[in-house]
Amino acid sequence: MREKLVELEKLILADVEKASTIPEFDNLRVKYLGRNGELTNILRELGKLSPEERPLIGKLTNDLKIKAQNIIDERSALLKEAEKQKSIKKESIDVTLSGRKRPLGHLHPLSQVMYEVEDIFLKLGFEIAEGPEVELDYYNFEALNFPKDHPARDMHDTFYITENIILRTHTSPVQIRVMENRKPPLQVIVPGRVYRCDADVSHSPMFHQVEGFMVDKKITFGDLKGVLSLFLRKMFGSKTKVRFRPSYFPFTEPSVEIDIECQLCKGKGCRVCKESGWVEILGAGMIDPEVFKAVKYDPEKYSGFAFGIGIERITMLKFAIDDIRLFFENNMLFLKQF
Ligand code: PHE
Repeated sequence: MREKLVELEKLILADVEKASTIPEFDNLRVKYLGRNGELTNILRELGKLSPEERPLIGKLTNDLKIKAQNIIDERSALLKEAEKQKSIKKESIDVTLSGRKRPLGHLHPLSQVMYEVEDIFLKLGFEIAEGPEVELDYYNFEALNFPKDHPARDMHDTFYITENIILRTHTSPVQIRVMENRKPPLQVIVPGRVYRCDADVSHSPMFHQVEGFMVDKKITFGDLKGVLSLFLRKMFGSKTKVRFRPSYFPFTEPSVEIDIECQLCKGKGCRVCKESGWVEILGAGMIDPEVFKAVKYDPEKYSGFAFGIGIERITMLKFAIDDIRLFFENNMLFLKQF
């Protein structure tokens, strides 16, 4: 029996040396110390021994049991600790690594230019007003001195909703809406979307204008020229060539169109300026007495000027963009450049 215990101790120690995973240690516990374990069985059989042998073998068996228990517990605890350290190492975060940059968006080039235009006029003392994009024929045309069969209506390529309701073709109807509700002096700009049924490299069915007008006693064409020249110098720099050209609008008299030298070809001629070297960016003029009559202002007492700026045209010239459709295709490769 004693030899059997010595053999068993050797076996246990060899098994412990071989074990290298937690389940393997659990198996050893079952194999030697469990309810049917080899040591447990020996202890159970002690009764069969002679009374002389019993105390000695009993003690030896118990000692071995404790020894086996301790060594298995010790080794498996070491193993658990090692595995824990390994996983801590694997899961640890290096807080000294620099973070990933999140891409920041920016304003659309048209918004950038829109805000720049607003800024210039706000500094000159203008205030901002807005009006509806779905507009009555009355405000878009009639009150602006375009009677029903006026030929100038043909230039506007109007989108009709009903006979009397349209998408506004310019921001000028807001002149009427503001003047109807207020008395001079007025110094107002109106940024907004407008619509015309037209599409090619330089025309989009939806585009942006900034309307502006100034009404008071004794406003003259000199004021118009002064304000708009200052605006153009701020927008394009003092060296850019500008020309004022006589023109016609039913709601202004006299009327002008303002061109600037094409910034894409520097006046040589290209598809943006239609080979002319000049691009029209502004319509303007002295407010027609008929318009004052429509809003019940006395044309003998008040005078004023008005203008409409094309935002897409200015943006194309500023950034040398040769196709208006690029603004509305939402191509990130294009937009990211600004
Ligand atoms: N509304 C005109 C257009 O869209 C521009 C304009 C505005 C002309 C104000 C004169 C005065 O063509």
